[in-house]
Amino acid sequence: MKRYADMASAELKELHDKLQQEYDQFAAKGLDLNMARGKPGSEQLALSMPMLDILTSSSDCTAEDGTDCRNYGVLAGLPEARRLMAEMLGCKPNQVIVCGNASLNIEYDLVARFELEGAAGQTPWCKLDTVKFLCPAPGYDRHFRICEHFGIEMIPVQMGEDGPDMDAIEKLVADDPAIKGIWCVPQYSNPTGATYSRETVQRLAALKTAAPDFRIFWDNAYCVHDIYPDDEARRDRVDNIIDACEQAGNPDRVFEFCSTSKITFPGAGISAVAASESNISWLLESMGPQTIGYDKLNQLRHVEFLRDAAGIQEHMAKHAQFLRPRFEAVLTRLENDLGDTGIATWTRPHGGYFISFEGPEGTAKEIVARAAQAGVKLTGAGATWPYGKDPHDSNIRIAPSYPSLEDLELAAQLFTICVRLVAIEKLLA
Ligand SMILES: Cc1ncc(COP(=O)(O)O)c(C=O)c1O
Repeated sequence: MKRYADMASAELKELHDKLQQEYDQFAAKGLDLNMARGKPGSEQLALSMPMLDILTSSSDCTAEDGTDCRNYGVLAGLPEARRLMAEMLGCKPNQVIVCGNASLNIEYDLVARFELEGAAGQTPWCKLDTVKFLCPAPGYDRHFRICEHFGIEMIPVQMGEDGPDMDAIEKLVADDPAIKGIWCVPQYSNPTGATYSRETVQRLAALKTAAPDFRIFWDNAYCVHDIYPDDEARRDRVDNIIDACEQAGNPDRVFEFCSTSKITFPGAGISAVAASESNISWLLESMGPQTIGYDKLNQLRHVEFLRDAAGIQEHMAKHAQFLRPRFEAVLTRLENDLGDTGIATWTRPHGGYFISFEGPEGTAKEIVARAAQAGVKLTGAGATWPYGKDPHDSNIRIAPSYPSLEDLELAAQLFTICVRLVAIEKLLA
């Protein structure tokens, strides 16, 4: 395979004609495939079905502290559920509140709390003319939507293999008191799969910020989501940010989030927020008027089903069995079709739910449109950047988890055809 940039126009045209024929054959099949959202496949959901048999009308619904889980109360979550989520995050149970069915909900609410109440006794954000957030990009579109919803100005920061560009971050936060926060997906990041290095974690914890109420939103959504659980060299673990912030003298800087959405059932799992004990006390007070407590029966079910860190690991290894071949099918296709062409790069994650793909500048929208026309839905181009605006129009998020392996192979095949077609058209233009 030759680098496209080294090929003569005639050769490129010939290749384009051949690819166009392949594309037309795909389009004629009337496919309806989806590589857009990071949802577990149905075989993965089946792994957690036994959890639904745990609580029946004859179950004892009493928690270890005697709480009757059928009734109101226990805002911070059952002790055993706090312990389970703390084990998952590697922090202490008293640093954890177990919440409802989605971590995104806690994240949204926390931004709303800072807007209404302020952080650390500072002015509520809604009373300030401008509030800005740093947004490592490519990143998670729903984080960006929260900012947009609250009118928070987003500043993109380039993501790299070790996390976001820390030199840029240090400069930005040092002088601008309007920068109040940063979104981080620190392990198996959405969408690049990168895990923040020790140095990145330490620099974030020690940041000298012009804003005294600067907060890190540490969305550890993929903290146990290894694709290669048995391979030490390919099992990432990000450092504990709560400890790092405490050691750096900024104990209240960070709020960490996670859920069992991609462990048991998305939308029907349990979620958690972790932070310093003083942040947890403030949060419980702030949550008081909002709810009497979350679904303790679901907490009980999850504790019984997952048990502890070892139980979670065992369960996640079963997920990995389904995810691994899917990731590998896409990666092999990318390598075979695009490997030496010089037109694209992509990530090779050790975990999480996504592969991040970079095509030639100014092609992502067209590639996504071309794939859609032939029946393969991809995440909208631009979605991985704040305001949906990828400055290079080059990034595409690939989500291999949901389709069957057979469908995924077809979808990946069509994807690289679209990439090559659009790249050649750009070279010839
Ligand atoms: C980084 C990240 N955070 C949060 C979520 C959503 O989690 P939950 O279902 O707990 O709201 C996702 C889902 O894709 C995600 O990728």
